[in-house]
Amino acid sequence: MSNGQPADSSRRNWIIATCVAGGAAGVATAYPFIDSMEPSEAAKAAGAPVEVDISGMAPGEQRTAEWRGQPIWIVRRTPEMLANLAKNDPELADPESKRNADGPDALNPPFACKNEWRSINKEYLVLVGICTHLGCSPGAKFATGAQPSLPADWEGGWLCPCHGSTFDMAGRVYKNKPAPDNLRVPPYKFLTATRLLIGETDKA
Ligand code: FES
Repeated sequence: MSNGQPADSSRRNWIIATCVAGGAAGVATAYPFIDSMEPSEAAKAAGAPVEVDISGMAPGEQRTAEWRGQPIWIVRRTPEMLANLAKNDPELADPESKRNADGPDALNPPFACKNEWRSINKEYLVLVGICTHLGCSPGAKFATGAQPSLPADWEGGWLCPCHGSTFDMAGRVYKNKPAPDNLRVPPYKFLTATRLLIGETDKA
């Protein structure tokens, strides 16, 4: 079983650079990275796990950390966000995250996240914030209901500005969108109730 390690990061970087250089609207998203604790910058660049403090996160809040040069989103989901997930299933391309279950480019979550929430603790969702189409960074659209570029029955999630892919509050991609797969869940684990380690997961 995959441990959720990412695909070739140099390829990812190339894809992101290509996407931005391609002039797609609104792709120059600035990531408001939160401070991750040690290891050193050199170690992080080499792929070492990074520790992230999630204390004080409000329900509905998203924070962004960095691991292996990728934005890592941590979202504290509200009870409403969690309750709405099951409603989305018929509209999703891969509601149970069954695609790419194995192999070097596995997109499925770590074992502890193979559940309807795609997370270890259902309240806290952890995702790689890179669209699975061409590597742009989707924007948070957590408000429900009709709004530009989104359907009237929108239940909250993310909208990729590049080509319109949409993802629900578990990072699952909607049908008939350019993005072929759900947003990746990186390997991670809880060190304490308020501290995550991104880049490492407990064995099944
Ligand atoms: S990069 Fe094309 S829809 Fe996200």
